[in-house]
Amino acid sequence: MNFRDFWYVVAASKDLTKDKPASAQVLGEWLALFRGADSKAVALEDRCLHRCARLSKGTIREGRLQCAYHGWVYDGEGRVVHVPSEGPNNAKAADNKMYSFRRARTFAVCEVDDYVYVRLADSPAEELKPFPIPYYKAEGWASIRLKNLFKNNVTNCVENFVDIPHTAFVHPRIFRVTKNEKLTARVERRSGSVVVSYRNERANLGWFSRFLNPGGREITHTDSFHMPNVTSVDYIFGENRRFIITSQSVPLTDCETLVYTDLTYNYGMWNLLARPIIRRQAQTIIDQDVEILGDQMEAIKRYGSRFANTEADVIHVFIESIRAELERGADPRLLPDKTVEIEFWV
Ligand code: FES
Ligand SMILES: [Fe+2]
Repeated sequence: MNFRDFWYVVAASKDLTKDKPASAQVLGEWLALFRGADSKAVALEDRCLHRCARLSKGTIREGRLQCAYHGWVYDGEGRVVHVPSEGPNNAKAADNKMYSFRRARTFAVCEVDDYVYVRLADSPAEELKPFPIPYYKAEGWASIRLKNLFKNNVTNCVENFVDIPHTAFVHPRIFRVTKNEKLTARVERRSGSVVVSYRNERANLGWFSRFLNPGGREITHTDSFHMPNVTSVDYIFGENRRFIITSQSVPLTDCETLVYTDLTYNYGMWNLLARPIIRRQAQTIIDQDVEILGDQMEAIKRYGSRFANTEADVIHVFIESIRAELERGADPRLLPDKTVEIEFWV
């Protein structure tokens, strides 16, 4: 099992049209995406077989992709079905044995929850599924989608998304303020996931608390990481209010990660009214993380990533252990289950 066995978001379904190809990157692979004749999403290696022009710069006609350089035409299976310089008779090219080597590399594609996912491995160790976005389009629930480029790797991004101590410093007031309150949590590593259950968390959620939890109700807060790249931050306020942030961190290269964030919540009549405010606040918070994580990567490039850990960092150490297993081609679900109680102050 390794990183290439998993599904990664490469586009929002609505952004993949029948008019123009799109480009994407996953784990250093360049992809040209388009909708084939049957409207199905197609992912080709973003390199023309002829002279290596980028296929994503081409055009789409009738579900076929035409390279912008000399006009070679590819179908939804990556087969070259027309080569203009070979004259009108080469329409048969796809059936002709002589041309059978003319087939671009394709990758498996699927669409779930209005995302287009690509898997790089042809024959993965096992058939895995994309992580389902909780309550996506469920009745009574609203969702907001954001996409942001982080100049850092997936490990540091996912750690940031489930890191509480940084919030009071990077997002002062908007998210949390330093109050020297003690938080306790149980951190469990099992089956390729890390689940953090917080106790005695009060309404120290800065600006958000006034909207999220106006009555100051008891908060059930659970953060989790799911291999290889998904985090979930889940707040339950009282009986019928819940706010879930699902982040999918897609590795473009070793130091660039494209993060797709879904904010899903059930706030009754506020579902629509609060939408622009939630979107703006969430984007402000993410912008602050983009900046600090960009700086972190610069320092790591110069000095390497030797980290010093506190008790609150057990969460990160568990996440790193799971990602390290995948890095060496092993199945993280075989790591022994571990549970640790931690306490820290915010
Ligand atoms: S490089 Fe694509 S047709 Fe020549
Ligand atoms: Fe943050």
